[in-house]
Amino acid sequence: MSTPKLVGISGSLRSGATNTMLLAEAARLFGDCDYTLADINFPLYNGDDEAVSGVPAAVTAAAQLIADADAVIISTPEYNKGPSGALKNALDWISRADVKPWGGKPVAVMSAAAGRAGGERAQMVLRGFMVPFRPVILQGPEIHLAGSGSAFDDNGHLTGEIYVKELTALMQDLRGLI
Ligand SMILES: Cc1cc2nc3c(=O)[nH]c(=O)nc-3n(C[C@H](O)[C@H](O)[C@H](O)COP(=O)(O)O)c2cc1C
Repeated sequence: MSTPKLVGISGSLRSGATNTMLLAEAARLFGDCDYTLADINFPLYNGDDEAVSGVPAAVTAAAQLIADADAVIISTPEYNKGPSGALKNALDWISRADVKPWGGKPVAVMSAAAGRAGGERAQMVLRGFMVPFRPVILQGPEIHLAGSGSAFDDNGHLTGEIYVKELTALMQDLRGLI
């Protein structure tokens, strides 16, 4: 089997985002793979802009990246108990691309947040957001990374043993779906 292609989608656009770090750890624990972080820094969806200019090239590129992936990992921050607007905007834009990349796609979702619940509510909402696209989403182990700002060492590795154990299990299950 050729090296599996794994694509990450981080709901936090900022540099140094702990959600992006969590995805990098997931990719490491997934094992041998070709990992790419998708660029979802899209303009806000506006139907007028779409009517005039069509789907932006960056959206088409992201949709194709997902379509070509063997599996996708998504991590969302929690903003006021929901996923980030950037992530919802990206999902909406990608749904407008000619390429419909999600059907049957193996997907693992996770969350990283400052709060004690690790973005649990945001992750539940994210799971609902994905329903129309009909991917194959793993139900667990659920990764809710709490206090994410202090959850990584200087090398970007997760310090909590339980997180490493559960994220490893999640990634093994994801690999098993390929
Ligand atoms: C607008 C906004 C709302 C937030 N709401 C929550 C929240 O409801 N629960 C929570 O745990 N953290 C909340 N936070 C803190 C985020 O969890 C924290 O910024 C987190 O580090 C974001 O992920 P990142 O490191 O990947 O950027 C909020 C942050 C922002 C900017």
